[in-house]
Amino acid sequence: MILYFTGTGNCLYVARELAAEGERVLSIPQELRREGELAYADDTIGIVYPIYGHMMPDMVKTFLERATLDTPYLYFVCTYGNRHANAVELCLEDARAAGLNPAYVTTLLMVDNWLPNFDMDEQRARIPEKKIGENLERIRAAVSTRRRWIEPVTDEDRAAHEQFMSRGLCFEPAALGGFLTVDSEKCTGCGACAKVCPAGCIALEGGKAVRNAQAGFGCNACLACMHACPAHAITCAAGDKNPAARFRNEHVTLAELQEANSGR
Ligand SMILES: Cc1cc2nc3c(=O)[nH]c(=O)nc-3n(C[C@H](O)[C@H](O)[C@H](O)COP(=O)(O)O)c2cc1C
Ligand code: SF4
Ligand code: SF4
Repeated sequence: MILYFTGTGNCLYVARELAAEGERVLSIPQELRREGELAYADDTIGIVYPIYGHMMPDMVKTFLERATLDTPYLYFVCTYGNRHANAVELCLEDARAAGLNPAYVTTLLMVDNWLPNFDMDEQRARIPEKKIGENLERIRAAVSTRRRWIEPVTDEDRAAHEQFMSRGLCFEPAALGGFLTVDSEKCTGCGACAKVCPAGCIALEGGKAVRNAQAGFGCNACLACMHACPAHAITCAAGDKNPAARFRNEHVTLAELQEANSGR
C-alpha cells in the first residue's frame, strides 16, 4: 500500500510508478476526511510526500499521528525540486514522534513547483537532467527487495536547513487572504482551485473563489490552487518568478489531481 500527498502531481505520479500490480494507492487528504479509524496493514507501506522547507507537509504529519500503520516494511520517499537539506532526518523525527520506525527513507529530485523562486518553463526544460526515471528505478528496486537503508545526511545538509530556518520564512496558514490572495477581477469562478485543494481551504461565493471558513485543515502551502488556476488569478505573498508559467506533472491530468485531493 502506498499513501501520498500531492500539490501538483509529482507525488501522485511517484506513488503510481512505485505501486506493484494491484497495490493500493491512497490519497492522504482523502483518508484524513474518512469517518472512522485510520488503520492500515500491509506487507509494505510507502509514504510519498513533497518536502516544504525540507519538512513534511502538515497533513502528512497529522496523518502519521492519527493513523495506525501495521507493516514489517515502512518506507518514505520525499520528493523535492532543488535542495533536500536534512529532509531525511526531519522525516525520521516526525515518523518516530508518531511511534513509527521507517526501514527505508530516500529523497527524489523532481520539478520544483515553488513558484516564488522557480520559473516553471525553466524547470520543465530541466526534467531530463533530473533523471527521474533512473531514480525511480533505484527506489523501486530497493523497495521490492525490502532494502533497509536511510539516506545519509551531512553536516552541510543540516547547516542548509538551519540557514533556511534562520531566515524566518514561514508559510502563513491563512490561504486566500494571507499567504495567497485571489484577484476577484480575474477570477472566473471556474472552481478548479477549490477542487484541487487537498485541505478544503477554498470555497466559491458569488461566483468567486474565497477562503473557506469551514475548512477542516489549514492551508498546507502546496500551491496546487495557484498552479491550477487557468486565469492566473491567485497570487502569493512570497512572489512569482514567472507569472505566465504554471506546472502539473506531465503524467497527471487535472481531473486526476482533483479526484486525488478533493474527490470531486
Ligand atoms: C511550500 C513549498 C516548499 C517547498 N520547499 C522545498 C524545499 O525546501 N526544497 C526543495 O528542493 N523543494 C521544495 N519545494 C518543491 C517541492 O518539494 C517539489 O516540487 C515536489 O516534488 C512537489 O510535489 P507535488 O507535485 O507532489 O506537489 C517546495 C514546494 C512548496 C510548494
Ligand atoms: S489553499 Fe492552495 S496552497 Fe493552500 S492547501 Fe489549498 S491548494 Fe494548497
Ligand atoms: S481557479 Fe482561478 S479562476 Fe477558477 S475559481 Fe479559482 S481563482 Fe477563480
